[in-house]
Amino acid sequence: MITNTELEYKGNLYPTRILSFKKEVDKLFFFTENDVILELTVIRDRVLRFRYATEGVFEPDFSYALAKEASRGYNHLDVEEADEEYIVKTGKLEIRILKENLRVRVFDLEGNLINEDELGFHWEENYEYGGNIVKMSKGVREAESFYGLGDKATHLNLKGKRLHNWGTDQYAFGKDQDPLYKSVPFYVGLNHKTAYGVFFDNTFKTHFDFCQERRNVASFWADGGEMNYYFFYGPSVAEVVTSYTDLTGKPELPPLWALGFHQCKWSYYPESKVKEISGKFRELQVPCDAIYLDIDYMEGFRCFTWNKEYFSDPKRMVKELKEDGFKTVVIIDPGIKVDKDYWVYQEAKDKDYFCKRADGPYMRGKVWPGECNFPDFTHPDVREWWAGLYKELIGDIGVKGVWNDMNEPAVMEVPTKTFPLDVRHDYDGHPCSHRKAHNVYGMQMARATYEGVKRFAYPKRPFIITRSAYSGAQRYTSSWTGDNVATWEHLWIANIQVQRMCMSGMSFTGSDIGGFAEQPTGELFARWIQLGVFHPFCRVHSSGDHGDQEPWSFGEEVLNITRKFIEMRYQLLPYIYTMFWRYINDGIPMLKPLVYYDQEDNQTHYRTDEFIFGEKILVCPILEPNAKGRRMYIPRGEWYNYWTDEVVSGGKEHWVSADIDKIPLFIKKGAIIPKYPIQQYVGEKEIKELSLDVYYKKGKEQSAVYEDGQDGYDYKKGRYSLRTFKLTGRKNELILQQHKEGKYTTSYEKIKLCLHGLPFKVSKIEFDNEEVAFEKVKLNGDNSMIIDKDFTELHIIGE
Ligand code: NOJ
Repeated sequence: MITNTELEYKGNLYPTRILSFKKEVDKLFFFTENDVILELTVIRDRVLRFRYATEGVFEPDFSYALAKEASRGYNHLDVEEADEEYIVKTGKLEIRILKENLRVRVFDLEGNLINEDELGFHWEENYEYGGNIVKMSKGVREAESFYGLGDKATHLNLKGKRLHNWGTDQYAFGKDQDPLYKSVPFYVGLNHKTAYGVFFDNTFKTHFDFCQERRNVASFWADGGEMNYYFFYGPSVAEVVTSYTDLTGKPELPPLWALGFHQCKWSYYPESKVKEISGKFRELQVPCDAIYLDIDYMEGFRCFTWNKEYFSDPKRMVKELKEDGFKTVVIIDPGIKVDKDYWVYQEAKDKDYFCKRADGPYMRGKVWPGECNFPDFTHPDVREWWAGLYKELIGDIGVKGVWNDMNEPAVMEVPTKTFPLDVRHDYDGHPCSHRKAHNVYGMQMARATYEGVKRFAYPKRPFIITRSAYSGAQRYTSSWTGDNVATWEHLWIANIQVQRMCMSGMSFTGSDIGGFAEQPTGELFARWIQLGVFHPFCRVHSSGDHGDQEPWSFGEEVLNITRKFIEMRYQLLPYIYTMFWRYINDGIPMLKPLVYYDQEDNQTHYRTDEFIFGEKILVCPILEPNAKGRRMYIPRGEWYNYWTDEVVSGGKEHWVSADIDKIPLFIKKGAIIPKYPIQQYVGEKEIKELSLDVYYKKGKEQSAVYEDGQDGYDYKKGRYSLRTFKLTGRKNELILQQHKEGKYTTSYEKIKLCLHGLPFKVSKIEFDNEEVAFEKVKLNGDNSMIIDKDFTELHIIGE
């Protein structure tokens, strides 16, 4: 234990004795002798906010991260003053604050310690920054693990690592390289089967140390601003992640097509090339919903313009693509070319909307168009103006989605890769320097884009994708993991990054399938597609420098594999949509790392490769060349091998075969997996039949299928259809009970049931308590049958 004298010696200051205490509704204030104030807010019984002031005053309270609709309210709050400490009790927690030094310990109501301050809050007066570096250190117990922090390209379990948040354009980043594009200062701690979370809502450069500097200490600090963090109590990892996601917000449903397959390249141009690609998808019958235009569609990289030589009539092209089922997504960067004859530049200049240096002139930086100025997206008027710029693109031309890139913000030809730190920002009426606004710049750009696209796409839903993000950006946008590389190691990284993003409140994420830089082999591309179709966002993208990266670029075998897996994604659309619906309603991550799925099983704490897709499907990518399969950990419980229907028991490692046309895939026993017919794009066919793959289990299991109009906002008015299925399996009986909710009428009348693993031969079928003849349900030898969609109870009885 470090003593206070040692701390002082190292230039740190720390709170002294608590002199007084006051309570204002849900806020408790503790005042120390040396003018430190701890403001403790009870947000919910298991969600607390800790905020510290060093000179007796707090900064104005403002955050970009928090969602307006976040839940608030607790069942219980009381404070007791004991000799040595204050004891605060909520409906779930007991917080003990030491009078001597303001250190905090958090217990559950049974008296188990969940987390404690080591040194707790302390700070350093830093003369380089002319202000404080605020710090927090926490004790770590044996076998404690750490997860979260957004897009970090390192082991899923962060124990032993020191990491930093500072949005950075990291072209061809490597394993363990840090920081990357996003800043998500949220982590989950797990020890003794109990999970808690910390969200350090500070937008300055933030730092996290998980037992790297000292074995039993986790600490976090920031280059400025306040020590302001939220504490979430589990005890499950799931509870922590959903509480964090509730606090920082959930998105609305995307249009269903956005969950289809997307094809991208830097760049498809001219129009004839775009048509060649879209035509080839249809000719070769590889499903695809979106095609992207990268920077070359613009006139000299000027945002909101078109290169008329390459695209003579964008509106016609976008319409023709639409007729063929393709939605056009275009890139928009933050850099606005300095050019007095360019209307966007002119407008922003006239309105004084560009970021300025501290000494007056507009901030200038080089990006694709050459010298640029950059809108200050932290100003509400600038966001409003920016939203309005989408009128023509979205409202008139009919573009369906917008891709925001380079918004860390990236600047070329400077070692820092970004703005000088003195640049000024409005920060929604809290003027500050780039040191504070840097990490939210991209998020505020995506927010402004979202507002605009939503306005002009109405009554349809918008689709936005961003590279940079801060906590809460998920309310506005999806994201991708940036400029990865076509290597096997990057396939490993992509798998971890997307799982980590899901654990960090940002489920709607994917990687550039096949790798952005360099050229994948056909085998790597095939393995990447096999993983990519199980990521919430599924897009192939490449820099185009090294050759083509379309499904047909690697020969017949890879084309067939790619088609097969993209088809599988399209079949699984109702399953994926249901996952998304759970995400927007309850903040449940779309992918669940094994530790999230079963934290009680210590063997999951360091697993990286396996994850649960939604609730019922276990996926594990093949990450090596020439593999015929791999060893993988199968979590506890019983699982059907998707390819063979063989049942395996989890809780241990298994060898799983998966030649080049397969990926290890398991379905949880008792699951009901909904499927649509294969379509070349969402809405190609009217869905005439919903298939349900039913995986027999002795016992009970629940599944659900969420559906709605697939676009638009009627679902918010109750026009959705939620089918909940209760499966009960017995020795010679299988019962399916269906509960229906919502006012949406699905286009199909029939459900096709495919029964897997039935341990008996069917002798009788009862439909809502009435026996039906086999011919009526078309019972086939393969145990599939077609039934009316609105059954309440189905009994399948064996001999
Ligand atoms: C960098 C982005 O990360 C990449 O996806 C894009 O293709 C290029 N910029 C060009 O716009």
